[in-house]
Amino acid sequence: MRAAIYRRYGPPEVVSIENVSKPAPKPHEVLIKIHATTVSSGDWRARSLSMPPGFGPIAPLVFGVRGPRQPILGTELSGVIEAIGAHVAKFKVDDAVFAFPSFAMGAHAEYLALPQYGPIALRPRNLSFPEAAAISFGGVAALQFLRDRAKVRAGEKVLVIGASGAVGSAAVQLAKNFGASVTGVCSGANLDLVESIGADRVIDYAKDDFIKSGDQYDIICDTIGVTSFAACKDALSPGGRLLLVASGLAQVLRAGRKPNSKAVIAGTGNATVEHLLFLKELAEAGRFKPVIDRRLSFEQIVEAHRRVDTGRKAGSVVILVSNDPEPSFARSLPGAAP
Ligand SMILES: NC(=O)c1ccc[n+]([C@@H]2O[C@H](COP(=O)([O-])OP(=O)(O)OC[C@H]3O[C@@H](n4cnc5c(N)ncnc54)[C@H](OP(=O)(O)O)[C@@H]3O)[C@@H](O)[C@H]2O)c1
Repeated sequence: MRAAIYRRYGPPEVVSIENVSKPAPKPHEVLIKIHATTVSSGDWRARSLSMPPGFGPIAPLVFGVRGPRQPILGTELSGVIEAIGAHVAKFKVDDAVFAFPSFAMGAHAEYLALPQYGPIALRPRNLSFPEAAAISFGGVAALQFLRDRAKVRAGEKVLVIGASGAVGSAAVQLAKNFGASVTGVCSGANLDLVESIGADRVIDYAKDDFIKSGDQYDIICDTIGVTSFAACKDALSPGGRLLLVASGLAQVLRAGRKPNSKAVIAGTGNATVEHLLFLKELAEAGRFKPVIDRRLSFEQIVEAHRRVDTGRKAGSVVILVSNDPEPSFARSLPGAAP
C-alpha cells in the first residue's frame, strides 16, 4: 500500500509517499481502507518536534529518540471496513466509519488496522468521507475540555481564542450546543466563518483586546496558547475556568484551583469511542459540522504539511487518500451526503 512516511524530524519535505506492506487485521482488529484523513497540528508537532514550552526534552522520549518510532503520521480518518479479524463482532465488512487513532497515528496511508473497541464509529449518515475525517482531532479535544473538564453549563458565557482553528471551530459549535453564549476571537479574515458556525459575537484580535474590554466570561478556552491566568484572570467571572488547550509544561504544573473559585485546566485526556459517538449524533442532528480549510490529494501531502505549518488554517486540512472518496454503495446509504 502507499503511505506517507517520515524517517527523521524536520520540515514538511521530510515526508514522502512510499510503498509499504499492507497491514493484516489481528483477531480483534478491523482493517480500514482509508478514504480521507487530515494533516493536523498534532502531525505538525510530531513531524517537527515543535512542542509547547517545556515539553521539548520530553518529546523525543514520546515519539522516538533516534527518529520517529511511528513513521506514518495521521491522527484521524474516515474510510470503509475492508476486512475483519476472526473475533470482530462490532463491525462488518463495508461499514463506512471514522476513527481517531490520535497519537498512535498511522492514518496517512491507504490502510490501517485498528482494534474494534478503539475509537472507531460508524460515519455520520449526512457527512461525506472528507467531512467525517475531520471530526475527531478538533472535536474530541473541544469536547474533553468544555464538557468533561470545564463542565460547561447552559447560559454560561464562553470565549474561544483561536475560534477559526480545528479545535477552536469545534469549541464554538460545542459550546453553542451546550447552551452557552459564545464569543469567538479570530483574525479579520475569519470573522464571517466564526459567525457562520454559531458564535454570538466575534472579536478581531488585531483590533480589540478582550482582556481590556472589561467583559467577563465563565469559560475562556485558549486553543492557541496566547494567554495565561495572570493575564486574563480579571476577564474570568467568579467560578470561571481558563482552559489552556495548548499549554506549556509550567502551565500544566500550575493548573488547578485559583482565588475566587476560579480554575485553570490544562493538559490532555484520552479519547474514547463515547466522544466519537457524541460527535456523530450531533453531526447527524445537523448541529456539528467540521470546518474544512482545503482538500488536497494524497500526492499533495507535503503541501498539506506546509499549510498546517503556517498556523493559519481554518479548521482542517483534508487529504483525499482514495481516488473515489464517495464509493457508490455509500452514496446509497439513507441520508448520505450528496
Ligand atoms: N491539549 C490537547 O489535548 C490538545 C488536543 C488537540 C490540539 N491541541 C493543541 O491545540 C492547538 C490548536 O490546534 P488546532 O489544530 O486548532 O490549530 P490550528 O487549526 O492550526 O489553529 C490555528 C488557528 O488559530 C488562528 N490564530 C492564530 N493566532 C491567533 C490569535 N493570536 N488569536 C486567535 N486566533 C489565532 C489561526 O487563524 P489566523 O492566523 O487567521 O488568526 C488559525 O485559524 C495546537 O497547539 C495543538 O497542539 C491540544
